[in-house]
Amino acid sequence: MTNATQTPDVQQEVQQQAGKLIGHFAGYVGFKTIEIGQKSGLLATLAASTDGVTVEELAQRAGTDEFYTSVWARAAYAAELAEIDGEGRYSLAPHVGSLLTDEDHPGYVGGIPTVFSQPEFFDNFSNVLKTGDHLWWEDTSPAFIQAVGGTGWPFYNRLIPGALDRVPGLVSTLVEGASVLELASGVGRGLVKFAEAYPNSVITGVDGDEHSVGISRQRVSRQGVADRVSVVHSTLEDFVERDAYDLVFINISLHEARDIDRVVENVRRSLKPGGHFVISDFPFPEKHDDLRSPAARVLTGIQYFEAQIDDQLLPTATFVNLLVRHGFRSVGSFDLTPVHAVIHGQA
Ligand SMILES: C[S@@+](CC[C@H](N)C(=O)[O-])C[C@H]1O[C@@H](n2cnc3c(N)ncnc32)[C@H](O)[C@@H]1O
Repeated sequence: MTNATQTPDVQQEVQQQAGKLIGHFAGYVGFKTIEIGQKSGLLATLAASTDGVTVEELAQRAGTDEFYTSVWARAAYAAELAEIDGEGRYSLAPHVGSLLTDEDHPGYVGGIPTVFSQPEFFDNFSNVLKTGDHLWWEDTSPAFIQAVGGTGWPFYNRLIPGALDRVPGLVSTLVEGASVLELASGVGRGLVKFAEAYPNSVITGVDGDEHSVGISRQRVSRQGVADRVSVVHSTLEDFVERDAYDLVFINISLHEARDIDRVVENVRRSLKPGGHFVISDFPFPEKHDDLRSPAARVLTGIQYFEAQIDDQLLPTATFVNLLVRHGFRSVGSFDLTPVHAVIHGQA
């Protein structure tokens, strides 16, 4: 049917569908504008220029070409990253500076463009789509490992101490001094954060990736907490220390376990009686209907990488059932953000 012969209803439908597709391309332009702004320092310069700047001033301060800066600034305005006043002075839209440039802000989402730009995410998925080939952490680049650490950081910032405070009966143990295990400790950012938050506690990290373990050991000694933090190189499936810990926690990684039941059973055995297990992870929607929110769509993006390491993100209910199945008691969960859930139970 040509356009001329389409009924008005069909024409309207076509326009609506085209609008959705254009929305995807517009999102890509916004994503690239953020990425360019981060790499060039334009976003950080705008964040520091609280009174607003002309394009000329922005280019001067960021050390960028003035004409190109004007192109970027217009795109930033279009994407609602920036505002412009009557005199043509640009400033960041409210909270955009915190959300995109302040790594320590609990709502920081500025790590996402870096991790999504790594070839391991989308490009490599296209390459292996036909073969179904998989990779594992040692096959990823150092830049990828660092980028993942950057994405995990706001999850740690929400977890320690805020979310841990919300787990019934846990906080006083940590403050008084506890023996703690972090599973899949990655590049060690959470280990240091935990050690600094609870100076009377000792913490062991365990991770299966040798490169990440090396980085985390360097970080621990650089930050001066090596007397209370140690890092073990082991798969989670093979790590168990009977009745040793008051708390075991894991950040954005339990869904990756090769044998999740074995890992949870190891946790139960490694906890002292009454010890706590806290899982901090992405709450993947249970129903197809819930996949269409912006947050869930970002999670479907993360699934491209998870698929290549042969797993998928999991719904909160799956974690809850796992803990119940392994005999944990007082099992509960709460959401911290639309992409961050906490599930907890006691041995
Ligand atoms: C997504 S990264 C998260 C790292 C860190 N928790 C963070 O939030 O930055 C996942 C980490 O889990 C580790 N990992 C995944 N499955 C594992 C397993 N079965 N045994 C040991 N380590 C594992 C990987 O080596 C990697 O360092």
